[in-house]
Amino acid sequence: MKTTYPTDGSPFDYGELILRELEEQFPLEKLFEALRSPGRHLCVRVNVLRGTPEAVMKELRERGYEPYVPYEAVPELVCVPVEGPFEIPKADAFVVADKRAAESVLVGADLYAPGVVGGRGLEPGREVTVLAERTLEPVGYGRSLVGERIPSKGKVVDVEISRFRGPKFRELKAFEEGLIYPQSAPSVAAVRALEPEGLVIDMNAAPGGKSFHAFELMRGKGRLMAFDVSRRRIEKMREEMKRLGHSFEVFRADSRYLDLDFPELVGKADRVMVDPPCTSIGVIPKVWDIKRDRDMINAFKYQIQFVKVAHKLLKKGGIMLYSTCTLTKTENEKVVEFAEELGFEILEKEVPWGTTPIKVNPVDHKEPGLFISLLRKAEG
Ligand SMILES: C[S@@+](CC[C@H](N)C(=O)[O-])C[C@H]1O[C@@H](n2cnc3c(N)ncnc32)[C@H](O)[C@@H]1O
Repeated sequence: MKTTYPTDGSPFDYGELILRELEEQFPLEKLFEALRSPGRHLCVRVNVLRGTPEAVMKELRERGYEPYVPYEAVPELVCVPVEGPFEIPKADAFVVADKRAAESVLVGADLYAPGVVGGRGLEPGREVTVLAERTLEPVGYGRSLVGERIPSKGKVVDVEISRFRGPKFRELKAFEEGLIYPQSAPSVAAVRALEPEGLVIDMNAAPGGKSFHAFELMRGKGRLMAFDVSRRRIEKMREEMKRLGHSFEVFRADSRYLDLDFPELVGKADRVMVDPPCTSIGVIPKVWDIKRDRDMINAFKYQIQFVKVAHKLLKKGGIMLYSTCTLTKTENEKVVEFAEELGFEILEKEVPWGTTPIKVNPVDHKEPGLFISLLRKAEG
């Protein structure tokens, strides 16, 4: 088990180039502090084909939460404020959680066996502190449900106190009934800004948040085709489609070659969504993060391949939503410059935090990071 910090005490270990790009945009101390918090609220998007924001807010209120619709222009978005940070008591027994599990426990989730890396002094019923692997930062406190031998499945710690407290959306009746989809505010605003219509192609669709939203906004009028390369993520997306009661076409494909594999789509799309893999620096909350400069450069090289194909699939005048959940310039502004050279024009549109292209971020907006740009394929 690693017990050291990755660098000189900071849980953020980023390459020099990445740091330089981040520093040009944010005071680094503030950025790192903001990346450790879940932001001002956690949100769900209401599936307007099945329910209303009022019905969802009613159930949230009955559960003791204080929901609100933070942005008038995005009426399907319902959020609940995050409380904290709280002090985590120190128990004699501890369990170490991997990055993913620790980041969930940080906002109040219980700890499950697959996320456990190690532990000491565990006994059923005993008080235990949950630590994040690598930094050993305390993220939660609760009761162990297991002894020294950790099973391969099931709940390991019932978390009673977490660093932050957010709503448990997945326990709502509205979730079970497919009325809601947990999603960040910037993601919801991005698809709304695109105004999906006609033939919409989602080139990086899974697990499906933006596709589901586009489908709902079109209310059965347009045609949505969703593509993703990952079989596992597509399976998850199909399960979610069932829960939400959606039906649209989902394909497993490498979207970098859609123009070759689906030549009938070339020049036909009214809207294309490109939401490619990225260095994910804007995803919050983080217990720690490591990204090398080569991760960013490789991501850029990958991202522009989708942009090239999006340009081929779009009709003249058609619009691409290019978004990423990272904060570097290489993966955002530089990709937009590349798109302009290819024959896209920047479209300026109001979103709740300003005008596109915009980098919604945890420092200025207390929201998860999302770069939102709309690019129109030039008529010429
Ligand atoms: C940031 S996620 C997309 C999130 C999704 N848009 C949403 O809102 O839920 C990026 C996705 O790109 C997919 N991806 C990566 N390489 C791909 C490729 N060559 N072709 C198609 N999809 C790809 C990944 O499997 C992943 O699901």
